[in-house]
Amino acid sequence: MILHKFKDQNELNRVGADLLLSVVRSKPNAILGMATGSTPVGIYQEIVKSFKQGLVSFKEVTTFNLDEYAGLPVTHPESYRSFMQSHLFNHIDIKPENTYVPNGNADDLDEEGRRYDELIYQKGLVDMQILGIGHNGHIGFNEPDESLSRFTHKVTLKPETREANKRFFNSIDDVPTHALTMGMGSILHAKSILLVVKGAEKAEILDRTLNGPITTQVPASFLQTHPRVIVLTDCDVDYKRS
Ligand code: F6R
Repeated sequence: MILHKFKDQNELNRVGADLLLSVVRSKPNAILGMATGSTPVGIYQEIVKSFKQGLVSFKEVTTFNLDEYAGLPVTHPESYRSFMQSHLFNHIDIKPENTYVPNGNADDLDEEGRRYDELIYQKGLVDMQILGIGHNGHIGFNEPDESLSRFTHKVTLKPETREANKRFFNSIDDVPTHALTMGMGSILHAKSILLVVKGAEKAEILDRTLNGPITTQVPASFLQTHPRVIVLTDCDVDYKRS
């Protein structure tokens, strides 16, 4: 893992965007793994800026999103499809048919998980996966548990995750209880991973992710096993062995 620490989130966002853009510049038909939540918003803004300056094109790029709430209408402003449209896809030249988000409204979510994994498999390996992290160490919505799943699957969101995400909704009762998430297999199969961690309140979980034991109780700790992880953070945390 390579750890880059920043004092300034603007600089972090620019570096994060540059890393993603360098993947697209060197491989115009790159496959990017996308995340939602507040963490990547600034990076997406920088990407949009570069696109508007004519510095990059996404015409041949394919994206796969990590996750989607179950049962939330896709038109709901807080659906992850809506998030991606409003923060990124509506502002760049990506083809809509090349942007994939799991369908959290499918009749059969197990079948939808299989379909999503098959699509990823058909398109090839994700070139760069951007990840945020939950306070409990989740990546995607792979929540801490006795065991973790390799495949895209339905999850019950932990109370702390719903609590953290209630800031996007009117009340906790409006936060969906379930979601569909890429499994640890698809995440760890990405050729490279950009883990972005912002805010002092995430310093402890970042320390456990980088330096703690690899455990299903901290799903992000499995990133220690991946050969190409770049961590961008404004937390005061060090990688204890290089
Ligand atoms: C979002 C996702 C989640 C978030 C995490 C952090 O697609 O997969 O793992 O990255 O919950 O969320 P924020 O960035 O809102 O703190």
